[in-house]
Amino acid sequence: MSEEKKKRDGFGSKIGIIAAAAGSAIGLGNIYRFPCELGNNGGAAFLLVYLAVVIFLGIPVMLSELVIGRRSQSNAVGAFKKLAPKSAWSIVGYMGVLCGFIIFAFYSTVSGWTLEYIIKAVSNSFQGKDLAAMEQDFSDFHNMGWRNVMWQAIFIFLTGFVVFKGVQNGIERYAKILMPLLLVILIVLGIRSVTLPGASEGLSFLFSPDFSKIDGKVLISALGQGFFSLSLGMGALITYGSYIKKKDNLTSTAFSVVLADTLIAVLAGLVIFPAAFSFGIRPTAGMGLVFNTIPMIFNQMTGGYIFCIIFFVLLAIAALTSTISLLEVVVAYLSEELHINRKWSTVWACVATLFIGSFASLSLMENTPFAIGGRTVFDLMDFVSSNILLPLGGVLIVIFVGWRLGKTKFFEEVTNEGTIKASLKKVIFFIIRYLAPIAIMIVFISGLIN
Ligand code: PFF
Repeated sequence: MSEEKKKRDGFGSKIGIIAAAAGSAIGLGNIYRFPCELGNNGGAAFLLVYLAVVIFLGIPVMLSELVIGRRSQSNAVGAFKKLAPKSAWSIVGYMGVLCGFIIFAFYSTVSGWTLEYIIKAVSNSFQGKDLAAMEQDFSDFHNMGWRNVMWQAIFIFLTGFVVFKGVQNGIERYAKILMPLLLVILIVLGIRSVTLPGASEGLSFLFSPDFSKIDGKVLISALGQGFFSLSLGMGALITYGSYIKKKDNLTSTAFSVVLADTLIAVLAGLVIFPAAFSFGIRPTAGMGLVFNTIPMIFNQMTGGYIFCIIFFVLLAIAALTSTISLLEVVVAYLSEELHINRKWSTVWACVATLFIGSFASLSLMENTPFAIGGRTVFDLMDFVSSNILLPLGGVLIVIFVGWRLGKTKFFEEVTNEGTIKASLKKVIFFIIRYLAPIAIMIVFISGLIN
Protein backbone atom coordinates (compact mmCIF):
# COMPACT_ATOMS: atom_id res chain seq x y z
CA MET A 1 0.00 0.00 0.00
CA SER A 2 1.41 3.36 -0.91
CA GLU A 3 2.19 5.97 1.68
CA GLU A 4 -0.44 8.24 0.20
CA LYS A 5 -3.16 5.62 0.46
CA LYS A 6 -2.37 4.79 4.06
CA LYS A 7 -2.74 8.43 4.96
CA ARG A 8 -6.20 8.84 3.44
CA ASP A 9 -8.79 10.12 5.83
CA GLY A 10 -11.98 8.19 6.45
CA PHE A 11 -15.37 8.55 8.06
CA GLY A 12 -15.43 7.18 11.57
CA SER A 13 -18.87 5.72 12.00
CA LYS A 14 -21.90 4.68 10.08
CA ILE A 15 -23.88 7.67 11.28
CA GLY A 16 -20.91 9.83 10.35
CA ILE A 17 -21.12 8.76 6.71
CA ILE A 18 -24.83 9.33 6.47
CA ALA A 19 -24.52 12.63 8.29
CA ALA A 20 -21.73 13.81 6.00
CA ALA A 21 -23.43 12.67 2.78
CA ALA A 22 -26.74 14.08 3.97
CA GLY A 23 -24.88 17.22 5.01
CA SER A 24 -23.65 17.55 1.46
CA ALA A 25 -27.09 16.92 0.03
CA ILE A 26 -29.12 19.05 2.42
CA GLY A 27 -28.43 22.71 1.94
CA LEU A 28 -29.55 25.80 0.12
CA GLY A 29 -30.63 23.49 -2.68
CA ASN A 30 -33.46 22.24 -0.50
CA ILE A 31 -34.50 25.35 1.31
CA TYR A 32 -33.72 28.05 -1.21
CA ARG A 33 -33.41 26.56 -4.70
CA PHE A 34 -36.16 23.95 -4.47
CA PRO A 35 -38.96 26.44 -3.67
CA CYS A 36 -37.67 28.80 -6.40
CA GLU A 37 -37.69 26.06 -9.02
CA LEU A 38 -41.03 24.75 -7.87
CA GLY A 39 -42.53 28.22 -7.95
CA ASN A 40 -41.21 28.91 -11.43
CA ASN A 41 -42.30 25.59 -12.83
CA GLY A 42 -45.95 25.38 -12.01
CA GLY A 43 -45.98 23.97 -8.47
CA ALA A 44 -47.41 20.52 -7.85
CA ALA A 45 -46.66 19.16 -11.33
CA PHE A 46 -43.00 19.97 -10.76
CA LEU A 47 -43.11 18.30 -7.36
CA LEU A 48 -44.37 15.07 -8.92
CA VAL A 49 -41.67 14.99 -11.59
CA TYR A 50 -39.11 15.89 -8.94
CA LEU A 51 -40.17 12.99 -6.72
CA ALA A 52 -39.98 10.60 -9.67
CA VAL A 53 -36.48 11.89 -10.44
CA VAL A 54 -35.13 11.46 -6.92
CA ILE A 55 -36.63 8.00 -6.41
CA PHE A 56 -35.95 6.41 -9.79
CA LEU A 57 -32.78 8.23 -10.76
CA GLY A 58 -31.45 9.70 -7.53
CA ILE A 59 -30.96 6.41 -5.71
CA PRO A 60 -29.25 4.56 -8.59
CA VAL A 61 -27.00 7.48 -9.49
CA MET A 62 -26.05 8.02 -5.86
CA LEU A 63 -25.27 4.35 -5.39
CA SER A 64 -23.19 4.39 -8.57
CA GLU A 65 -21.12 7.28 -7.27
CA LEU A 66 -20.60 5.67 -3.88
CA VAL A 67 -19.55 2.41 -5.56
CA ILE A 68 -17.05 4.17 -7.81
CA GLY A 69 -15.65 6.10 -4.88
CA ARG A 70 -15.27 3.29 -2.43
CA ARG A 71 -13.96 0.80 -4.96
CA SER A 72 -11.32 3.19 -6.25
CA GLN A 73 -10.48 4.92 -2.95
CA SER A 74 -9.80 8.02 -5.02
CA ASN A 75 -10.91 11.53 -5.84
CA ALA A 76 -13.31 12.15 -8.75
CA VAL A 77 -10.61 12.14 -11.43
CA GLY A 78 -8.36 9.48 -9.88
CA ALA A 79 -11.33 7.14 -9.50
CA PHE A 80 -11.87 6.89 -13.24
CA LYS A 81 -8.15 6.64 -13.88
CA LYS A 82 -7.95 3.70 -11.50
CA LEU A 83 -11.06 1.86 -12.56
CA ALA A 84 -10.62 2.47 -16.28
CA PRO A 85 -6.91 3.08 -16.84
CA LYS A 86 -5.77 4.73 -20.06
CA SER A 87 -9.30 5.56 -21.18
CA ALA A 88 -11.20 8.75 -21.78
CA TRP A 89 -13.40 8.12 -18.74
CA SER A 90 -11.36 10.45 -16.57
CA ILE A 91 -13.01 13.29 -18.50
CA VAL A 92 -16.10 12.61 -16.36
CA GLY A 93 -13.98 13.31 -13.31
CA TYR A 94 -12.56 16.52 -14.77
CA MET A 95 -16.07 17.66 -15.64
CA GLY A 96 -17.04 17.01 -12.04
CA VAL A 97 -14.18 19.04 -10.62
CA LEU A 98 -15.03 21.92 -12.95
CA CYS A 99 -18.68 21.68 -12.03
CA GLY A 100 -17.88 21.60 -8.29
CA PHE A 101 -15.87 24.73 -8.76
CA ILE A 102 -18.64 26.55 -10.65
CA ILE A 103 -21.32 25.52 -8.16
CA PHE A 104 -19.17 26.61 -5.23
CA ALA A 105 -18.66 29.97 -6.94
CA PHE A 106 -22.34 30.93 -7.11
CA TYR A 107 -23.47 28.86 -4.14
CA SER A 108 -21.16 30.85 -1.91
CA THR A 109 -23.03 34.01 -2.93
CA VAL A 110 -26.27 32.76 -1.41
CA SER A 111 -24.36 31.17 1.47
CA GLY A 112 -23.03 34.64 2.24
CA TRP A 113 -26.57 35.99 2.41
CA THR A 114 -27.31 33.59 5.26
CA LEU A 115 -24.65 35.41 7.29
CA GLU A 116 -26.14 38.81 6.48
CA TYR A 117 -29.52 37.46 7.50
CA ILE A 118 -28.16 36.18 10.81
CA ILE A 119 -27.05 39.74 11.55
CA LYS A 120 -30.40 41.12 10.45
CA ALA A 121 -32.18 38.58 12.66
CA VAL A 122 -30.03 39.38 15.67
CA SER A 123 -30.54 43.11 15.24
CA ASN A 124 -34.27 42.50 14.98
CA SER A 125 -34.46 44.31 11.68
CA PHE A 126 -37.39 42.29 10.34
CA GLN A 127 -39.67 43.33 13.18
CA GLY A 128 -42.99 44.76 12.04
CA LYS A 129 -41.97 45.04 8.39
CA ASP A 130 -44.52 44.50 5.67
CA LEU A 131 -43.82 42.81 2.38
CA ALA A 132 -42.88 46.00 0.53
CA ALA A 133 -40.32 46.94 3.17
CA MET A 134 -38.92 43.44 3.24
CA GLU A 135 -38.54 43.38 -0.54
CA GLN A 136 -36.92 46.79 -0.51
CA ASP A 137 -34.36 45.61 2.05
CA PHE A 138 -33.60 42.54 0.00
CA SER A 139 -32.95 44.48 -3.18
CA ASP A 140 -30.98 47.18 -1.33
CA PHE A 141 -28.77 44.44 -0.01
CA HIS A 142 -28.17 43.06 -3.51
CA ASN A 143 -27.19 46.48 -4.70
CA MET A 144 -24.47 46.58 -2.08
CA GLY A 145 -22.37 44.37 -4.30
CA TRP A 146 -19.19 44.48 -2.25
CA ARG A 147 -21.02 43.68 0.93
CA ASN A 148 -22.26 40.52 -0.79
CA VAL A 149 -18.71 39.73 -1.83
CA MET A 150 -17.48 40.29 1.71
CA TRP A 151 -19.94 37.76 3.14
CA GLN A 152 -19.12 35.42 0.31
CA ALA A 153 -15.43 35.69 1.15
CA ILE A 154 -16.10 34.97 4.81
CA PHE A 155 -18.14 31.95 3.88
CA ILE A 156 -15.49 30.62 1.53
CA PHE A 157 -12.91 31.12 4.25
CA LEU A 158 -15.04 29.16 6.74
CA THR A 159 -15.41 26.34 4.24
CA GLY A 160 -11.69 26.30 3.57
CA PHE A 161 -11.00 26.15 7.29
CA VAL A 162 -13.15 23.06 7.80
CA VAL A 163 -11.88 21.31 4.69
CA PHE A 164 -8.30 21.97 5.69
CA LYS A 165 -8.91 20.35 9.04
CA GLY A 166 -9.75 17.12 7.22
CA VAL A 167 -12.60 14.75 6.80
CA GLN A 168 -12.91 13.01 10.11
CA ASN A 169 -12.65 15.98 12.42
CA GLY A 170 -14.15 18.61 10.25
CA ILE A 171 -17.14 17.40 8.38
CA GLU A 172 -18.40 14.56 10.47
CA ARG A 173 -18.51 16.33 13.78
CA TYR A 174 -20.50 19.32 12.61
CA ALA A 175 -22.98 17.50 10.43
CA LYS A 176 -24.06 14.89 12.93
CA ILE A 177 -25.78 17.11 15.45
CA LEU A 178 -27.04 19.99 13.41
CA MET A 179 -29.04 18.54 10.56
CA PRO A 180 -31.68 16.96 12.82
CA LEU A 181 -32.06 20.33 14.49
CA LEU A 182 -32.80 21.94 11.15
CA LEU A 183 -35.52 19.37 10.58
CA VAL A 184 -37.14 20.28 13.89
CA ILE A 185 -37.18 23.98 13.19
CA LEU A 186 -38.64 23.43 9.73
CA ILE A 187 -41.44 21.41 11.26
CA VAL A 188 -42.20 24.25 13.68
CA LEU A 189 -42.18 26.74 10.80
CA GLY A 190 -44.33 24.44 8.69
CA ILE A 191 -46.98 24.26 11.38
CA ARG A 192 -47.09 28.05 11.61
CA SER A 193 -47.17 28.43 7.85
CA VAL A 194 -50.08 26.09 7.16
CA THR A 195 -52.15 27.71 9.90
CA LEU A 196 -51.83 31.24 8.48
CA PRO A 197 -54.96 32.75 6.91
CA GLY A 198 -55.17 31.89 3.21
CA ALA A 199 -52.61 29.11 3.52
CA SER A 200 -54.82 26.62 1.68
CA GLU A 201 -54.12 28.29 -1.66
CA GLY A 202 -50.44 27.57 -1.14
CA LEU A 203 -51.18 23.99 -0.22
CA SER A 204 -53.11 23.42 -3.40
CA PHE A 205 -50.34 25.09 -5.41
CA LEU A 206 -48.01 22.55 -3.86
CA PHE A 207 -50.15 19.45 -3.98
CA SER A 208 -52.82 19.65 -6.74
CA PRO A 209 -50.98 19.04 -9.95
CA ASP A 210 -51.99 20.46 -13.30
CA PHE A 211 -50.46 17.89 -15.64
CA SER A 212 -50.74 20.17 -18.64
CA LYS A 213 -47.94 22.21 -17.11
CA ILE A 214 -45.38 19.43 -17.60
CA ASP A 215 -43.20 20.36 -20.55
CA GLY A 216 -39.53 20.05 -21.47
CA LYS A 217 -38.61 22.97 -19.23
CA VAL A 218 -40.32 21.45 -16.19
CA LEU A 219 -38.65 18.10 -16.87
CA ILE A 220 -35.14 19.46 -17.19
CA SER A 221 -35.60 21.76 -14.22
CA ALA A 222 -36.78 18.87 -12.05
CA LEU A 223 -33.91 16.71 -13.25
CA GLY A 224 -31.37 19.46 -12.60
CA GLN A 225 -32.88 20.22 -9.21
CA GLY A 226 -32.88 16.53 -8.27
CA PHE A 227 -29.21 16.17 -9.10
CA PHE A 228 -28.32 19.47 -7.49
CA SER A 229 -30.18 18.71 -4.30
CA LEU A 230 -28.73 15.23 -3.95
CA SER A 231 -25.20 16.45 -4.84
CA LEU A 232 -25.09 14.08 -7.80
CA GLY A 233 -23.34 14.10 -11.14
CA MET A 234 -20.11 15.83 -10.20
CA GLY A 235 -18.22 13.38 -8.07
CA ALA A 236 -19.01 14.77 -4.63
CA LEU A 237 -20.28 11.36 -3.62
CA ILE A 238 -17.44 9.63 -5.43
CA THR A 239 -15.10 11.62 -3.23
CA TYR A 240 -17.13 10.94 -0.08
CA GLY A 241 -17.56 7.29 -1.13
CA SER A 242 -13.80 6.99 -1.15
CA TYR A 243 -13.74 7.80 2.57
CA ILE A 244 -16.33 5.12 3.42
CA LYS A 245 -15.05 1.94 5.02
CA LYS A 246 -15.31 -1.44 3.34
CA LYS A 247 -17.74 -2.77 5.92
CA ASP A 248 -20.35 -0.04 5.55
CA ASN A 249 -23.58 -0.56 3.66
CA LEU A 250 -23.70 1.65 0.56
CA THR A 251 -27.28 0.88 -0.44
CA SER A 252 -28.76 1.85 2.88
CA THR A 253 -26.61 4.97 2.92
CA ALA A 254 -28.03 6.00 -0.47
CA PHE A 255 -31.60 5.33 0.64
CA SER A 256 -31.21 7.25 3.89
CA VAL A 257 -29.65 10.26 2.21
CA VAL A 258 -32.28 10.45 -0.53
CA LEU A 259 -35.05 10.13 2.05
CA ALA A 260 -33.64 12.79 4.36
CA ASP A 261 -32.93 15.21 1.53
CA THR A 262 -36.36 14.82 -0.02
CA LEU A 263 -38.07 15.19 3.33
CA ILE A 264 -36.32 18.49 3.94
CA ALA A 265 -37.12 19.79 0.45
CA VAL A 266 -40.81 18.95 0.67
CA LEU A 267 -40.91 20.41 4.15
CA ALA A 268 -39.32 23.60 2.85
CA GLY A 269 -42.07 23.75 0.23
CA LEU A 270 -44.62 23.33 2.98
CA VAL A 271 -43.07 26.18 4.91
CA ILE A 272 -42.74 28.58 1.99
CA PHE A 273 -45.84 28.27 -0.19
CA PRO A 274 -48.72 28.45 2.27
CA ALA A 275 -47.06 31.47 3.88
CA ALA A 276 -46.12 33.08 0.56
CA PHE A 277 -49.73 32.88 -0.64
CA SER A 278 -50.92 34.16 2.68
CA PHE A 279 -48.63 37.22 2.51
CA GLY A 280 -49.25 37.84 -1.18
CA ILE A 281 -45.78 36.89 -2.39
CA ARG A 282 -45.86 35.48 -5.93
CA PRO A 283 -44.62 31.88 -6.21
CA THR A 284 -42.47 33.06 -9.11
CA ALA A 285 -40.74 35.67 -6.96
CA GLY A 286 -37.46 33.73 -7.24
CA MET A 287 -34.73 34.73 -4.84
CA GLY A 288 -36.96 36.83 -2.62
CA LEU A 289 -39.42 33.99 -2.20
CA VAL A 290 -37.47 32.38 0.60
CA PHE A 291 -35.52 35.30 2.01
CA ASN A 292 -38.65 37.44 2.38
CA THR A 293 -41.20 34.82 3.29
CA ILE A 294 -39.35 33.17 6.14
CA PRO A 295 -38.72 36.29 8.25
CA MET A 296 -42.35 37.24 7.70
CA ILE A 297 -43.49 33.91 9.13
CA PHE A 298 -41.29 34.48 12.15
CA ASN A 299 -42.89 37.90 12.58
CA GLN A 300 -46.17 36.07 13.09
CA MET A 301 -44.84 33.70 15.73
CA THR A 302 -44.38 33.84 19.46
CA GLY A 303 -40.67 33.57 20.08
CA GLY A 304 -40.14 34.47 16.43
CA TYR A 305 -37.10 36.59 17.23
CA ILE A 306 -35.13 33.70 18.69
CA PHE A 307 -36.41 31.13 16.20
CA CYS A 308 -35.43 33.38 13.34
CA ILE A 309 -31.86 33.62 14.57
CA ILE A 310 -31.64 29.88 15.08
CA PHE A 311 -33.11 29.28 11.64
CA PHE A 312 -30.57 31.41 9.79
CA VAL A 313 -27.72 29.95 11.82
CA LEU A 314 -28.85 26.46 10.87
CA LEU A 315 -29.33 27.49 7.26
CA ALA A 316 -25.77 28.80 7.21
CA ILE A 317 -24.54 25.52 8.66
CA ALA A 318 -26.57 23.50 6.16
CA ALA A 319 -24.97 25.57 3.43
CA LEU A 320 -21.56 25.02 5.00
CA THR A 321 -21.84 21.22 5.05
CA SER A 322 -22.67 21.46 1.34
CA THR A 323 -19.88 23.86 0.41
CA ILE A 324 -17.47 21.62 2.31
CA SER A 325 -18.33 18.79 -0.06
CA LEU A 326 -18.02 21.06 -3.09
CA LEU A 327 -14.60 22.24 -2.04
CA GLU A 328 -13.56 18.74 -1.03
CA VAL A 329 -14.05 17.54 -4.62
CA VAL A 330 -11.65 20.18 -5.87
CA VAL A 331 -9.14 19.82 -3.03
CA ALA A 332 -9.06 16.00 -3.17
CA TYR A 333 -8.32 16.31 -6.88
CA LEU A 334 -5.61 18.95 -6.50
CA SER A 335 -3.90 17.17 -3.65
CA GLU A 336 -4.09 13.59 -4.92
CA GLU A 337 -3.65 14.10 -8.64
CA LEU A 338 -1.52 17.20 -8.84
CA HIS A 339 0.29 16.51 -5.54
CA ILE A 340 -0.20 20.01 -4.21
CA ASN A 341 -0.35 19.64 -0.44
CA ARG A 342 -3.72 19.87 1.21
CA LYS A 343 -3.15 23.26 2.71
CA TRP A 344 -2.16 24.93 -0.55
CA SER A 345 -4.81 23.06 -2.52
CA THR A 346 -7.39 24.51 -0.18
CA VAL A 347 -5.94 28.01 -0.35
CA TRP A 348 -5.75 28.06 -4.16
CA ALA A 349 -9.19 26.57 -4.62
CA CYS A 350 -10.68 29.16 -2.25
CA VAL A 351 -8.94 32.10 -3.87
CA ALA A 352 -10.03 31.01 -7.34
CA THR A 353 -13.60 30.43 -6.16
CA LEU A 354 -13.77 33.87 -4.62
CA PHE A 355 -12.46 35.47 -7.77
CA ILE A 356 -14.99 33.78 -10.06
CA GLY A 357 -17.73 33.82 -7.43
CA SER A 358 -17.52 37.58 -6.93
CA PHE A 359 -18.77 38.02 -10.51
CA ALA A 360 -21.80 35.96 -9.55
CA SER A 361 -22.44 38.20 -6.53
CA LEU A 362 -21.89 41.45 -8.39
CA SER A 363 -24.11 40.29 -11.24
CA LEU A 364 -27.16 40.57 -8.98
CA MET A 365 -26.92 44.35 -8.65
CA GLU A 366 -29.24 46.55 -10.64
CA ASN A 367 -27.63 47.64 -13.93
CA THR A 368 -24.86 45.15 -13.44
CA PRO A 369 -22.28 44.85 -16.20
CA PHE A 370 -22.04 41.12 -15.46
CA ALA A 371 -24.95 39.83 -17.49
CA ILE A 372 -24.86 38.09 -20.82
CA GLY A 373 -27.88 38.04 -23.12
CA GLY A 374 -30.17 39.25 -20.34
CA ARG A 375 -29.03 36.53 -17.93
CA THR A 376 -26.89 37.32 -14.93
CA VAL A 377 -23.57 35.55 -14.46
CA PHE A 378 -25.13 34.03 -11.35
CA ASP A 379 -27.99 32.54 -13.39
CA LEU A 380 -25.67 31.35 -16.11
CA MET A 381 -23.42 29.53 -13.67
CA ASP A 382 -26.43 27.97 -12.02
CA PHE A 383 -28.00 26.95 -15.31
CA VAL A 384 -24.88 25.52 -16.92
CA SER A 385 -23.86 23.54 -13.86
CA SER A 386 -27.23 22.27 -12.66
CA ASN A 387 -29.13 21.78 -15.87
CA ILE A 388 -26.27 20.75 -18.16
CA LEU A 389 -23.15 19.52 -16.39
CA LEU A 390 -24.83 17.57 -13.58
CA PRO A 391 -27.25 15.57 -15.77
CA LEU A 392 -24.45 14.95 -18.26
CA GLY A 393 -22.16 13.80 -15.46
CA GLY A 394 -24.97 11.66 -14.05
CA VAL A 395 -25.64 9.90 -17.32
CA LEU A 396 -21.94 9.17 -17.86
CA ILE A 397 -21.59 7.87 -14.31
CA VAL A 398 -24.43 5.34 -14.67
CA ILE A 399 -23.16 4.28 -18.09
CA PHE A 400 -19.75 3.79 -16.54
CA VAL A 401 -21.06 1.58 -13.75
CA GLY A 402 -23.58 -0.26 -15.92
CA TRP A 403 -21.36 -0.97 -18.88
CA ARG A 404 -17.73 -0.50 -17.95
CA LEU A 405 -17.41 -1.46 -14.29
CA GLY A 406 -20.06 -4.14 -14.78
CA LYS A 407 -22.42 -6.22 -12.74
CA THR A 408 -19.93 -8.43 -10.90
CA LYS A 409 -17.92 -5.57 -9.44
CA PHE A 410 -21.06 -3.58 -8.68
CA PHE A 411 -22.52 -6.53 -6.76
CA GLU A 412 -19.23 -7.10 -4.94
CA GLU A 413 -19.26 -3.50 -3.80
CA VAL A 414 -22.90 -3.28 -2.69
CA THR A 415 -22.76 -6.64 -0.87
CA ASN A 416 -19.37 -5.87 0.69
CA GLU A 417 -17.82 -8.86 -1.12
CA GLY A 418 -20.83 -11.05 -0.37
CA THR A 419 -20.90 -10.44 3.36
CA ILE A 420 -24.18 -8.52 3.46
CA LYS A 421 -27.44 -8.90 1.58
CA ALA A 422 -28.48 -6.19 -0.79
CA SER A 423 -31.85 -7.44 -1.88
CA LEU A 424 -32.54 -4.68 -4.38
CA LYS A 425 -29.21 -4.95 -6.13
CA LYS A 426 -30.56 -6.57 -9.30
CA VAL A 427 -33.34 -4.04 -9.79
CA ILE A 428 -31.01 -1.16 -9.09
CA PHE A 429 -28.40 -2.48 -11.47
CA PHE A 430 -31.04 -2.87 -14.17
CA ILE A 431 -32.01 0.77 -13.69
CA ILE A 432 -28.37 1.83 -13.74
CA ARG A 433 -27.65 -0.08 -16.92
CA TYR A 434 -30.75 0.61 -18.98
CA LEU A 435 -33.42 2.87 -17.56
CA ALA A 436 -31.41 5.66 -15.97
CA PRO A 437 -29.22 6.46 -19.00
CA ILE A 438 -32.24 6.48 -21.32
CA ALA A 439 -34.43 8.49 -18.96
CA ILE A 440 -31.77 11.10 -18.24
CA MET A 441 -30.97 11.48 -21.95
CA ILE A 442 -34.63 11.87 -22.91
CA VAL A 443 -35.25 14.51 -20.27
CA PHE A 444 -32.02 16.26 -21.05
CA ILE A 445 -32.66 16.42 -24.80
CA SER A 446 -36.29 17.44 -24.39
CA GLY A 447 -35.12 20.23 -22.11
CA LEU A 448 -32.50 21.44 -24.55
CA ILE A 449 -34.96 21.46 -27.44
CA ASN A 450 -37.42 23.35 -25.29
N1 PFF B 1 -26.82 19.44 -2.58
C1 PFF B 1 -26.48 20.76 -2.17
C2 PFF B 1 -27.76 21.49 -1.83
O1 PFF B 1 -28.83 20.97 -2.10
O2 PFF B 1 -27.70 22.58 -1.30
C3 PFF B 1 -25.68 21.50 -3.22
C4 PFF B 1 -24.56 20.69 -3.76
C5 PFF B 1 -23.56 20.24 -2.92
C6 PFF B 1 -24.55 20.32 -5.09
C7 PFF B 1 -22.55 19.42 -3.40
C8 PFF B 1 -23.56 19.51 -5.59
C9 PFF B 1 -22.57 19.07 -4.72
F1 PFF B 1 -21.64 18.31 -5.17
